[in-house]
Amino acid sequence: MIYKDKLIKDKIPKHIAIIMDGNGRWAAQFGNERTFGHEHGVEAVRSVVEGAGEIGVEYLTLYAFSTENWSRPKLEVDALMGLLVQSISDETDELLKSNVRLRVIGDVKSLPQNVQEKLDWSIAKLNDCTGLTLVLALSYSSKWEIVEAVKRIAEQVKIGQLEPSAINYDLMDGYLNTSNMPDPELLIRTSGECRISNFLLWQIAYSELYFTPKLWPDFRKEDLFEAIYDYQNRERRFGKTSEQLVS
Ligand code: IPE
Ligand code: IPE
Ligand code: MG
Repeated sequence: MIYKDKLIKDKIPKHIAIIMDGNGRWAAQFGNERTFGHEHGVEAVRSVVEGAGEIGVEYLTLYAFSTENWSRPKLEVDALMGLLVQSISDETDELLKSNVRLRVIGDVKSLPQNVQEKLDWSIAKLNDCTGLTLVLALSYSSKWEIVEAVKRIAEQVKIGQLEPSAINYDLMDGYLNTSNMPDPELLIRTSGECRISNFLLWQIAYSELYFTPKLWPDFRKEDLFEAIYDYQNRERRFGKTSEQLVS
């Protein structure tokens, strides 16, 4: 089935978030090192970014490296950081042609200096793009993000700049790394794992969750369109009843 043709044009999610999982298992199928899977994961990223742009998604957030991933063997962490620098170098021109903007969420300062510099370079180069915003979650975890937001809010209260009674959902949104972004309507996780792994806990309060057994390096834009097709055929009730939605 060609899912792209079946999509309802005015029901495309504005924001899609993806937990790109299964690179290690993909590599193991071929008796290869885990890093081989990470390398091939880049092809999936390319395809999904292209697909999201084609159908007018506004934000695509990719979970590329979690706070918890720092606990992996140093060799793998180093390989991932190297791959990140290489991919950003290689892909930025293509992103520019496709009018894609880049944004990063996470504890950027914990990344190696060369990664930070490459990110800054690419973000600046893509600054005037007006199409899809590609959001990379790097050294990201949701609990970290929330604690950072709470600390900054507490600081404002302490110096008398903010009344505790003024703290509400919107204010909280503004203190998160994702400020000014809509919450994801759709969250996809590949590789068959059915968990969130500390990703966007606040922002996915009402997201539709889509789990696929496909391993990330095998995922392509057609799989993205299939996920969106599935999403479009769900009823989002936000606490209401079906009857209320119809009327
Ligand atoms: C996802 O694939 C990539 C990162 C977490 C960086 P994994 O490396 O987690 O692959 P599996 O889950 O071990 O197969
Ligand atoms: C989640 O994948 C993080 C990223 C995709 C970057 P993991 O493979 O690290 O997740 P867990 O630890 O198995 O839940
Ligand atoms: Mg994994």
